[in-house]
Amino acid sequence: MSALLEVRGLTTHFDTRGGVLKAVEDVSFEVGEGEIVGLVGESGSGKSVTGFSILGLVDAPGRIVSGSVRFAGRELVGLGHGALRSMRGREMAMVFQDPSATLNPVLTVGQQMRLAIAAHERVGEAAATARCVEALTIVGIPDAARRLENYPHQFSGGMRQRVAIAIALLNRPKLIICDEPTTALDVSIQAQILTEMKSLAARLGTAMIWISHDLATVSSVASRLLVMYAGRIIEAGPVASVLRSPRHPYTRGLLNSLPSMARPGQDLVQIPGSMPSLANLPEGCSFRPRCPKAQEDCKVMPALTGDGARAFRCRHPLDREVAA
Ligand SMILES: Nc1ncnc2c1ncn2[C@@H]1O[C@H](COP(=O)(O)OP(=O)(O)OP(=O)(O)O)[C@@H](O)[C@H]1O
Ligand SMILES: [Mg+2]
Repeated sequence: MSALLEVRGLTTHFDTRGGVLKAVEDVSFEVGEGEIVGLVGESGSGKSVTGFSILGLVDAPGRIVSGSVRFAGRELVGLGHGALRSMRGREMAMVFQDPSATLNPVLTVGQQMRLAIAAHERVGEAAATARCVEALTIVGIPDAARRLENYPHQFSGGMRQRVAIAIALLNRPKLIICDEPTTALDVSIQAQILTEMKSLAARLGTAMIWISHDLATVSSVASRLLVMYAGRIIEAGPVASVLRSPRHPYTRGLLNSLPSMARPGQDLVQIPGSMPSLANLPEGCSFRPRCPKAQEDCKVMPALTGDGARAFRCRHPLDREVAA
């Protein structure tokens, strides 16, 4: 599979009063055409900033310090604002956690959808309306033609998020970055949207990066997982393989703390301590102060090393578990 998106050594920092905050550090991964990749990690681990960096949405005091983002063979780091803006929404789109970041309360849904099309293409009114109706129908909004005349507040929370997803789909982008779009919704609506997004991606051939702090959510939608900790990817691999046999002690800790993911008969255990401040990271492996397997050599940052389709950033990885 040729990679649609190739991220290499992406590093994004924020210059704050408290010093340099290393939000994203040496992040590398690929997304294939039509592939859904899950990016998981606890709050503040750098997931959103990774998404913003890919789309060129990082503003001062943040900056991409180094690294490369190649999308469909084109380097995006260093591209001008105009070029990035014309690409966003058309080739690559983002759905934010809060639909109000996308939806304008004083315009009808139809007005803003037509504007999203007009930003990239000259389309006649009837054709534009047809495309809006199609996008709303795809995301499961009934009576779409009539709903175009409604304002965002006339939709429920779940429906508003579907509208935001429909806007992301309007120009048929090759990649959609979904930043926790279902976190604020009821569990049943969340599950419904996840299932639909998955079949949608397969049907339209759209690749997705699905961001969430919830390993269970990500695992239900993605085929490959990236686990982030303190700004770095610390483990990556196919979902089933990572869940069955995590190699990084942090991933194991995450799994042990989840009711839906713990092994049968096993008590739930929280990882002791908390994630370090990104402005004041410990020497070496960032997980070292919390890690049950930490040794002296962990004071030097381990590289992300591979083992087949799997990669982990740990010198003392857990043994590979073989399915019985
Ligand atoms: N504009 C900004 N200025 C300064 N620091 C920022 C800014 N945006 C993000 N950060 C910092 O970058 C780090 C990573 O933030 P990010 O939003 O990527 O985390 P996240 O993994 O998406 O967390 P969450 O699950 O809570 O959304 C955090 O320490 C955050 O405070
Ligand atoms: Mg976030």
